[in-house]
Amino acid sequence: MRQLIAGNWKMNGTLGDALHMAVALRQAAGAIGCDLLICPPATLLQALASALAGTPVSVGAQDCHQMNSGAHTGDVSAPMVREAGARWVILGHSERRADHGETDALVHAKADAAASGGLTPIVCVGETERERLDGAQTAVVRRQLAASLPENFAGVVAYEPVWAIGTGRTPSGADVAAMHGFIRAELSARFGAAGRAMRILYGGSVKPANAAALLAIADVGGALVGGASLSAADFLAIARAAPQDQASLPNPNAGR
Ligand code: PGA
Repeated sequence: MRQLIAGNWKMNGTLGDALHMAVALRQAAGAIGCDLLICPPATLLQALASALAGTPVSVGAQDCHQMNSGAHTGDVSAPMVREAGARWVILGHSERRADHGETDALVHAKADAAASGGLTPIVCVGETERERLDGAQTAVVRRQLAASLPENFAGVVAYEPVWAIGTGRTPSGADVAAMHGFIRAELSARFGAAGRAMRILYGGSVKPANAAALLAIADVGGALVGGASLSAADFLAIARAAPQDQASLPNPNAGR
């Protein structure tokens, strides 16, 4: 399957930044052999989706509420972000788990709401530094997968070790391979063929300089990129470092 390179802008970006990114992606996307996604703040979804219309680049939200509407001040729902142009949604990011007390059960409810609302969920899992030092990383990720993913889950899993997010530190290649292999085994056991084909992204300090090595690891199906996705040049460099699906590139001999 084509790799997915997803940008998570977090609480960053102006309208000008979004339009600038759209121009750069519009020029470059056709020659890139992986799927591209930008998840800006909810305020920029509509403008970015319009600016990217007609390109292969998708737009996603960074969260959605588990209900479709109601008395939930400050929240946005899956149908709302879908109407604004989102086709994907990041759920259960460690910053939301930490800042907003999101539990696995809540992420599970949001993943159901996302699917019903026509969004593909990207569910984030990953251990803290303390948990890794204690050797508890696989137990933590097993629990998160079991409790966060609904029965009929048809989305993407992102493995993001919390200690690697925004720190410039990444796990060793062997540690990424071990965790992605573990997640693949869990998904296969639970979802069968769908689990064997599900994309598992790596996230946490992915940069142009380390992208090729991380994205070449077995069972890494792409990247969830935070800081580096704010720069069009860096985001595109990461996308070009991914294994390219040549079959899907435009045929240079077409029409001759
Ligand atoms: P980072 O963030 O690339 O800035 O480490 C990744 C993420 O939180 O998704």
